[in-house]
Amino acid sequence: MRWGKYFAALLAAAIASVKVAASAPSSAAFTYDRTTFYLHGSPYVIIGGQMDPQRVPAPYWRDRLAKARAMGLNTIFSYVYWNLLEPSPGEWNNDKGKSADISGISNDVAAFFRIAQEEGLNVILRPGPYICGEREWGGFPAWLAKVSGMRVRSSNALFMEAAEKYLVRLAADLADLQVTRGGPLLMVQVENEYGSYGEDHAYTTGLRDILRANFEVPLYTNDGGVDWTLAGGEVPEVLAEIDGDPWSGFAARDKYITNESELGPLMDGEYYTLAPDFWGADNVHNTTVGRPSQIAQFVTDLDHVLGANNSISLYMFHGGTNFGFSNGAIWKNFTASFTTSYDYGSPLDESGRTNELYFTLRDTILKYVPPETVPEPPENLPRLEIPAFELAPWTGLFDTLGKPMVSKTPVTMEELGQAYGLILYEHTARTTVKGVLQPGDRARDRVIVYVNGVKKGVIDSTYSRPAQVSVSLLPGDNLQLLVENLGRVDYWSRESGTFVALEDPYKGILGDVTVGSRALEGWKIYCLPLEAPPSSAGNQTRLPRTEAGSPPVFYRATFDMDMDAEDDTDPALLDTFLAVPDGVKGNVWVNGFNLGRYWIIGPQQSLYLPGTVLKPVGANEVVILELEPRVDTLSVFGAAEREWGNYPDPDYP
Ligand SMILES: *[C@@H]1O[C@H](CO)[C@@H](O)[C@H](O)[C@H]1NC(C)=O
Ligand SMILES: *[C@@H]1O[C@H](CO)[C@@H](O)[C@H](O)[C@H]1NC(C)=O
Ligand SMILES: *[C@@H]1O[C@H](CO)[C@@H](O)[C@H](O)[C@H]1NC(C)=O
Ligand SMILES: *[C@@H]1O[C@H](CO)[C@@H](O)[C@H](O)[C@H]1NC(C)=O
Ligand SMILES: *[C@@H]1O[C@H](CO)[C@@H](O)[C@H](O)[C@H]1NC(C)=O
Repeated sequence: MRWGKYFAALLAAAIASVKVAASAPSSAAFTYDRTTFYLHGSPYVIIGGQMDPQRVPAPYWRDRLAKARAMGLNTIFSYVYWNLLEPSPGEWNNDKGKSADISGISNDVAAFFRIAQEEGLNVILRPGPYICGEREWGGFPAWLAKVSGMRVRSSNALFMEAAEKYLVRLAADLADLQVTRGGPLLMVQVENEYGSYGEDHAYTTGLRDILRANFEVPLYTNDGGVDWTLAGGEVPEVLAEIDGDPWSGFAARDKYITNESELGPLMDGEYYTLAPDFWGADNVHNTTVGRPSQIAQFVTDLDHVLGANNSISLYMFHGGTNFGFSNGAIWKNFTASFTTSYDYGSPLDESGRTNELYFTLRDTILKYVPPETVPEPPENLPRLEIPAFELAPWTGLFDTLGKPMVSKTPVTMEELGQAYGLILYEHTARTTVKGVLQPGDRARDRVIVYVNGVKKGVIDSTYSRPAQVSVSLLPGDNLQLLVENLGRVDYWSRESGTFVALEDPYKGILGDVTVGSRALEGWKIYCLPLEAPPSSAGNQTRLPRTEAGSPPVFYRATFDMDMDAEDDTDPALLDTFLAVPDGVKGNVWVNGFNLGRYWIIGPQQSLYLPGTVLKPVGANEVVILELEPRVDTLSVFGAAEREWGNYPDPDYP
């Protein structure tokens, strides 16, 4: 088959709308009693795995779902990200009727559910509005932070109104896919692990009522399996389930949930196959490779659950990627931000390949289902290697600035209507000031300090003791503070202390910038959301400087895949892992698509480049924003097998 045709077919499959078989509405399609789920009247054990469509290019959805079915799963659990679906208030971006972007990242959750059904899978919807999921602000759109009086995850009227609008729009897209109408959708989750966060039962019963008004399938809650999380998260008339360790969790559910209206079959809604990776020179990549005892534990747990006909979902079955700036973070009195890769030992890896864990789990599941009903998994395809090539300096980030916002005091990113990326604060000294620079109340999150275009230091809240940077300004000196949002906090537990990190999503600078004890007044503020790389080299008269201490530089090159149009190559063969070995920190765009952040500290040392982004014929453009340039040309290569590793942070040796 010709490359072009195959690619078009993949895309079409991903966005095709398939009519679901018409059948009489039936609220009895999926039910449960005290011990058992029933699908169309027959006992049904949910053998599930999590995969979020918005983290995987849509042209690959069918392949990943077929592999889920071939592992023996019968149900896919999916979070849905509100911030991608409603990027500004009232703007609904479900991608229907639009062509997907170059990467194929799509918000068309309905299309994903239809493909799941075609591949023999049912689905469980986890719409939030808060989803955690190691995503930016737990899936909340950044614009919520601009609404004064808004309090997320609470019965606050402003939040309930915004959440209801979102859920009603989502239900309009998905209601026809409920099992009661012949679709694959079995259940809908109310909030997400709410009990670890709070005890506002008016909020969760309010969400229950909104979901009931818009869906007819059963609802469930999912909380950590201990007394206080179950007590905070339970909702009358909603099935209470647990996540984490199924042994202690199931026992806790049966012990602490006593309201008959919340009881039913046991399900571990998130059984963790390891935990996600954070950026950090000391943080090693989580993987099951070389850890047979870890895999043995998974098998023991799966036997425990399935042997008793209880239900489970593996979190993650297929993790995918936090493309662009979409990762979240955890506040631990410092910012622990999640890596671009969301693959930390999933049975189906970031590029959709099966591994040892996949086959071990498959063998375990096959003990509990008729083996002939589970298809054979497809062979793994080899990946592409791209020989190293050099990117030349193209333009300086500070040569691409638009019109600034002028303000006496600094203003946060959210206040300026910016969600992600970087923001630059510029001040021209009028008097002599000298001393330690304080960038507002604290670094939010990584602040690079320049005086007259030369880097003076980095104040980074990734570190529990961010560096102290001293400056000495004379009248006329130019001070620039480039602030990177490393990902808003997506999780906070009631056990973490009195500072509610989820309620403080502000990025950029909050409060005064002081030097010594003097607050600096008079700022030019430039929003740098970097939704796309610059379209041209801008208006500079000379190439940007690239010696250590220079401001950020965009490097650029094009490369040709040298495939001819008649080539039969399967586009899945074009997946590769792009490495920037001389880079310190930055982002990579390929053909305009933001692959995500790289950072020398690791553990991630290469970025997943899906074949969907590459053009087999003609020039492919690579643009890299290196925040801390130190080389004249930046080398890049595509590896078929990725390597993980950690290096010291040059700014925090
Ligand atoms: C138990 O559930 C019922 C609904 O069936 C509800 O009316 C009642 O308030 C719940 N009890 C408690 C203690 O929450
Ligand atoms: C995952 O990695 C983090 C950071 O290195 C570590 O703290 C955590 O214990 C690891 N978890 C597992 C399950 O390996
Ligand atoms: C699980 O379900 C199967 C099929 O319905 C049944 O044969 C088996 O006895 C059940 N096992 C337990 C532990 O209930
Ligand atoms: C953060 O610091 C506070 C006050 O010292 C402490 O109570 C809390 O446990 C710390 N939180 C974390 C996650 O370390
Ligand atoms: C580009 O630079 C020239 C010369 O400095 C200037 O006249 C022109 O206005 C600039 N154009 C833009 C778009 O900034």
